[in-house]
Amino acid sequence: RNKMTSPSPTHSDSSGSSKHDSNQVCLSDGWEIVEGLRGVPATMQEPDRQEGVLLKRRKWPMKGWHKRYFLLERGILKYAKRETDLKKGKLHGCIDVGLSVMSIKKKTMCIDLDTEDNIYHLKVISHMRQVQFSQLISKQDCPDGSHSLVHQVSSESKASIPESLSEFFDAKEYLLSSSSSENEVSIYHYLLPHHLSIPNFQVPSVHFFAPVSSVLTLTSRRSMLPSPSPTSSVSLWNILRNNIGKDLSKVAMPVQLNEPLNTLQRLCEELEYSELLDTANDCQDPYQRMVYVATFAISAYTSTYHRAGSKPFNPVLGETYECDRPDKGFRFIAEQVSHHPPVSACHSDSKNFTFWQDVRWKNKFWGKSMEIVPMGTTHVTLPAFGDHYEWNKVTSCIHNILSGQRWIEHYGEMAIKNTNSDICQCKVTFVKAKSWSSTVNEIEGVVTDSKGKVIHTIFGKWHESVFQGDPPSAMCIWRANPMPVDQEQYYGFTQFAVELNELDFSLRTLLPPTDTRFRLDQRLLEEGNTEGAEEQKQRIEQLQRERRKVLQDNNMTHQPRFFKKSKDDTWVSNNTYWELRRDPGFSKMDFPVLW
Ligand SMILES: *[C@@H]1O[C@H](CO)[C@@H](O)[C@H](O)[C@H]1NC(C)=O
Ligand SMILES: *[C@@H]1O[C@H](CO)[C@@H](O)[C@H](O)[C@H]1NC(C)=O
Ligand SMILES: *[C@@H]1O[C@H](CO)[C@@H](O)[C@H](O)[C@H]1NC(C)=O
Repeated sequence: RNKMTSPSPTHSDSSGSSKHDSNQVCLSDGWEIVEGLRGVPATMQEPDRQEGVLLKRRKWPMKGWHKRYFLLERGILKYAKRETDLKKGKLHGCIDVGLSVMSIKKKTMCIDLDTEDNIYHLKVISHMRQVQFSQLISKQDCPDGSHSLVHQVSSESKASIPESLSEFFDAKEYLLSSSSSENEVSIYHYLLPHHLSIPNFQVPSVHFFAPVSSVLTLTSRRSMLPSPSPTSSVSLWNILRNNIGKDLSKVAMPVQLNEPLNTLQRLCEELEYSELLDTANDCQDPYQRMVYVATFAISAYTSTYHRAGSKPFNPVLGETYECDRPDKGFRFIAEQVSHHPPVSACHSDSKNFTFWQDVRWKNKFWGKSMEIVPMGTTHVTLPAFGDHYEWNKVTSCIHNILSGQRWIEHYGEMAIKNTNSDICQCKVTFVKAKSWSSTVNEIEGVVTDSKGKVIHTIFGKWHESVFQGDPPSAMCIWRANPMPVDQEQYYGFTQFAVELNELDFSLRTLLPPTDTRFRLDQRLLEEGNTEGAEEQKQRIEQLQRERRKVLQDNNMTHQPRFFKKSKDDTWVSNNTYWELRRDPGFSKMDFPVLW
């Protein structure tokens, strides 16, 4: 199945195409690839059947490690709650190990299996005999009839590396250590900000919207990007094969994998359906208000549906982005406030709401899929009622990273509460699809009162629409905007996304030099010049490394411009941006040269 001599794996059948005489190819980087077992086994012994108890991790509900009974036979791993259930055929799952990517951490006796539809995390119970574990992972047990990738994570276990919190990353410096875990530990340690100061600041109170934007407001916005997305010739496989089970922040990525937007702009995209908050702030009933807030929280995921194909640029430390939308009644600012770990902070205000969050992600590549686990809390206040809502984001997973059609899935539970009132709360479940063919992207939610009684139910799909009530008489609360024609050629951008990086002539004189719109690599990519973009990206990353070196040499820490740490350790706006913007181009302020 996997023609391992070619730089990228293909899913064509390998019959007759393998140039290898042997069944195994050992690569220097710790990969062991087993292939061509079908038909060969004359000299090979069929592996014994293996069974017993392993721990399996559940993400939700009932998060944690649970004992399950497993049976591995002829390359198929089946499991059930108990041995008796397995015997009766009451299976919880059935995994074709040969079609999965398996990574093993010997030291912690953990096995991760990425089957594309699911990522399984298994662990050997410590009193299990070591021999069984090694039998389980031995290549002999690789399935009859298929080919398995076994990534032997070195015994210098990755568990000792502090988990980084990050978005997909462009951090070139990590290339140094892409195959040497020892180096990684030390370099990584060195770069972690042990010394971030945490001043005692308050969460911002709601303050009123005073339009300070220039009279030169952009009236008509572009409806298209200047150039379609270039066709990519990059082999992701070459980049990723050394990085299974790792955080991709350690991996340098070519610009061809990017879309011409960055993470700061992606945060602004969460406001595409801000009218739901306008409606909430105009709604007397607290339960119904919660429905609108929950729907707004769901709508933040909508634009991701068409965007699994590429990743946003990573902002450099100190990069800022503003989005002034008088037509929608809000203005928005964001700043990259930390580099290790990467943290993006944003703040938006309107007459009808305030929205803020700081965002960091842990991401893990499992061989076929990448999981993105967000950290941090999203906040919305509604001035008409003094409400302060808070919620968490759910896990996202990009499937089929290396081959076929990439697609994105979100799963998990989002809990929304109003910290200023316990009248009601809401729980929204992003349902994990059982398989690609079954219903996908479903959400369901309940608004409950202080006693836990269900007041409202909502259901729908995060990429499409949300309804309230029960199916025959359900009411549509929200529907996604139609996509522009030709969106496939233009990175899957919505009309709102197309507008985010537009640099109008009048805006040029008003923005601070750190605004993303001035970033050359992203602009060149937008214009379809990938070579120029790659060159600029490397130059910009190099400048960032030099700035960090200067800070380190002088025992200094980076101070964000427009955000400060609040007492609960989140980044909040210091409410100076729009005031300072009255001075065109922020000309009285000093900014570092970011590009
Ligand atoms: C605030 O909400 C009201 C009611 O939905 C709406 O009519 C108004 O345009 C909104 N104001 C702004 C500034 O968006
Ligand atoms: C750097 O700052 C820390 C804490 O303020 C101090 O303990 C240390 O001695 C300083 N190092 C240098 C090289 O100045
Ligand atoms: C807020 O931002 C301004 C502009 O950068 C800065 O000068 C000021 O020190 C910041 N204030 C606080 C309280 O962080």
